[in-house]
Amino acid sequence: MNSENYSIVMRGVGSATPETRLTNAELTARVETSDEWITTRTGIKERRIAGDAVQLSEIAAEAGRKALAHAGMNPDEIDMLIVATLSPETLCPSTACLVQSRLGLRQVPAFDINVACSGWLYGLDVARSMMLVNPTYRNVLVIGAEKLSSFTDWEDRQTCILFGDAAGAAVLSRVEEPGFGVLGCDLGADGNNAALIQIPAGGSAKPATVETVQAREHYLRMNGKEVFKVAVKAMSQAAMSILEKNGATPDDLVCIIPHQANIRIIEALASRLELSMDRFFVNIQKYGNTSAASIPLALDEARIEHNFKRGDLILLVAFGAGLTWAASVIRWY
Ligand code: UT7
Repeated sequence: MNSENYSIVMRGVGSATPETRLTNAELTARVETSDEWITTRTGIKERRIAGDAVQLSEIAAEAGRKALAHAGMNPDEIDMLIVATLSPETLCPSTACLVQSRLGLRQVPAFDINVACSGWLYGLDVARSMMLVNPTYRNVLVIGAEKLSSFTDWEDRQTCILFGDAAGAAVLSRVEEPGFGVLGCDLGADGNNAALIQIPAGGSAKPATVETVQAREHYLRMNGKEVFKVAVKAMSQAAMSILEKNGATPDDLVCIIPHQANIRIIEALASRLELSMDRFFVNIQKYGNTSAASIPLALDEARIEHNFKRGDLILLVAFGAGLTWAASVIRWY
């Protein structure tokens, strides 16, 4: 198989969000905060919460079903499933296997990747790379899904205002027409900064005990100020690097879809790329930070809002725990 003759294109995109909204005003009843603080410091107005009755694999499967419908494909046409998540339904088995069953896929490879907020873009590159070398993988479903509300400390005002639940998905297909779809991905990680965002307990280092529960160590903790600084730098470097590798400049981009973590991070990125904010797609006000679901959810809304046309150049760029970052350039098919 000569990979230069092919493109890996997004044949269908879909997303799903739980119905229940949690507004800033409602949060003020839980912690000492205000709508004004949350809006000005983050851009978030409300987020979606799955609640006890809705499982992660349900939201993920719904996004997958919508991506399949948009692609005009049946579940049995999918050759592999990747689910990016940091909030798996269970530690074992993987959420991907649960989603595979819900969607009624064939007995194709299904696996999770945990790269936090950069996860869906890592999944995109893993899928693309495998599809370009192995003819078996013609159509791959890549889902980003999170139920972060289960790992949110609702007593910590520094983090509980940020996160929400959602899923987004794309069906990638190999087509015999070069120069379209995922043109390339730039991935990176810095494990030396692992402590900046973490869930301290519940893994093999610190299994659950009465003490870990009492110390609230099963919830996500973050050094927001430090993460903010690294996020701006890493995202702008990854964006510039992938554009350069593809002989493009920021000005060639029809739309930039950044990870929705904080409106001020997106504004700082715009300033570094010397682009106005109207080139950036923003939906953080409706969903908050949905980690691995953030980019595919925004992509699904952006493609509808902007009515992307064949040939449009789009940049996806993310940053998250690990620390990790990722950027990808897409030529819409
Ligand atoms: O998706 C993974 C990547 N994650 C990120 O990219 C997140 C990056 N970080 C951020 O988005 C921001 O750092 C936050 C939104 C988390 C925090 O914003 P900040 O401007 O960095 O605020 P801060 O932590 O420096 O806090 C400023 C003040 C503090 O009070 P003092 O010490 O100045 O008196 C905080 O105690 O704001 C206070 N504060 C709050 N006040 C009202 C912190 N959280 C809140 C709150 N409501 N929810």
